[in-house]
Amino acid sequence: MNQPIGIFDSGIGGLTVANSISRLMPEENLVYFGDTYYMPYGTKSPDVIQSRALKITDFLIKSHNCKAIIIACNSASATAYEILRDNLKGKIPIINVIDPIIEYLSDKQFKKIGLIATQATIDSGVYQEKIKRRIPNTSLEAKATPLLASIIEENFINHAVSMSVLDTYLIDKRFDAIDAMILGCTHYPLIAQEIQTYFSKQTEIIHSGEVTAEKLKSILTKENLLQTKPKLEDRFIVSMLTNSFEASTKFFYGKKISLEEKRF
Ligand code: DGL
Repeated sequence: MNQPIGIFDSGIGGLTVANSISRLMPEENLVYFGDTYYMPYGTKSPDVIQSRALKITDFLIKSHNCKAIIIACNSASATAYEILRDNLKGKIPIINVIDPIIEYLSDKQFKKIGLIATQATIDSGVYQEKIKRRIPNTSLEAKATPLLASIIEENFINHAVSMSVLDTYLIDKRFDAIDAMILGCTHYPLIAQEIQTYFSKQTEIIHSGEVTAEKLKSILTKENLLQTKPKLEDRFIVSMLTNSFEASTKFFYGKKISLEEKRF
């Protein structure tokens, strides 16, 4: 078995998930697709995100023979997961980034948690509904933070721009005394340290990277899909080449990687 794992996001955010996967399973081959031409997803309507997600999944399976798909984007997980799963009809595993967070939270005893995410994710109500159903004793304060993904994509990290936007979003009474803050967008772990400074040290900052990688590993193990042959080069494909994507991939992987552009 040397088929790759297909991972996609609107841009660099999903690299936070790809990074956790390659740390946990360094022998696995990855094909990453960043839909930079259509970025941001968080401001798009569900039907636009669903149509992109179907096209990208099709590309990852037909052109790259992927053995599993990771929707490394909360906005696409919230709006397109069921459609993608039904479309694949159990042919290969497909994993979203929301369910692993809900599973992680259900083992905790948090009284009050916060959620920041894109408008599409908040409007979908998926986190709100799953937390209410699975963790009824935990109260949730959910807030859309629509500018964050784009400023991160532009590399405004530890920067006056990110600080000013975070002040506007996070200085909010609703987030007083939260036990945990869910980073409900895969871009946000890139500014996790800045976000932590708005809360006490006891407030746990939660994101999808590690929990999603663990979930993937357990599914690949169960389905006998783990890599058995020597590792190949990981592939990074974008629908539009951007400097920030190139800079971020270098930052994550510590070496020059070659980016490919594929427009569809
Ligand atoms: N990283 C994505 C998410 O997790 C999308 C950000 C965007 O494109 O708006 O929601």
